[in-house]
Amino acid sequence: MNRPVLRRFVVFEGLDGAGTTTQLRLLGAALEKARIPHWVTCEPTSLPTGRIVRQVLKGEVDARPETLARLFSADRHEHLYGPEGIMVRLGRGELIVCDRYLFSSLAYQGVACGYDLPRALNAAFPLPELVIFFDLPASLAMDRVEARAEREIFETRPTQERVREAYEATLTEFSGQGMKILRVNASRPVAEVAAAIMEALRDFAGIEPMTGKHL
Ligand code: TMP
Repeated sequence: MNRPVLRRFVVFEGLDGAGTTTQLRLLGAALEKARIPHWVTCEPTSLPTGRIVRQVLKGEVDARPETLARLFSADRHEHLYGPEGIMVRLGRGELIVCDRYLFSSLAYQGVACGYDLPRALNAAFPLPELVIFFDLPASLAMDRVEARAEREIFETRPTQERVREAYEATLTEFSGQGMKILRVNASRPVAEVAAAIMEALRDFAGIEPMTGKHL
């Protein structure tokens, strides 16, 4: 099936602890400094749909894995098509960088409730132009997660191992579907990862690569 590919839409993907949130913050600051119209955003969102998802992830609200899969796709739909959402902003010429997108659903919900449901729920969403996959071993990802004060439901070693395998299968499935996939070695220091991302984004945003010290 050929899905539309949205130009100037970039997605970060990776395990918990891969560093996507840190890199999103750094990239947002760099884009701001370069005065490039942009929106850095994430899923789950801060919309009402995303807030319910967060409560489930924290274990504050109980939901079946299949319900959570549907909540993620509902949140994604709002994120894409809601007022001031991704489609509206792309239409205004903004560069969108999103921490997690449908590949997270295929990987995590694939592990949690089988692949058929997340695949069906996400079949109609458009693809980004670029996916940056933050690659690191599940053991290192979990070392980072365990240093944090709070833990979410997918943040266990066996789950992260399985999610990593599911990501591999997902990226293979989506290669050759019109979007670029870039793997970044996320085991490296923050500044090195940031420099690799800036390099990759030069084509999209017309910004010069910066070293970590500029960020
Ligand atoms: P975060 O910690 O990067 O904010 O992501 C929240 C958690 O939600 C993380 O464990 C990945 C998971 N997740 C899914 O299971 N499915 C999804 O579709 C998305 C966007 C995130």
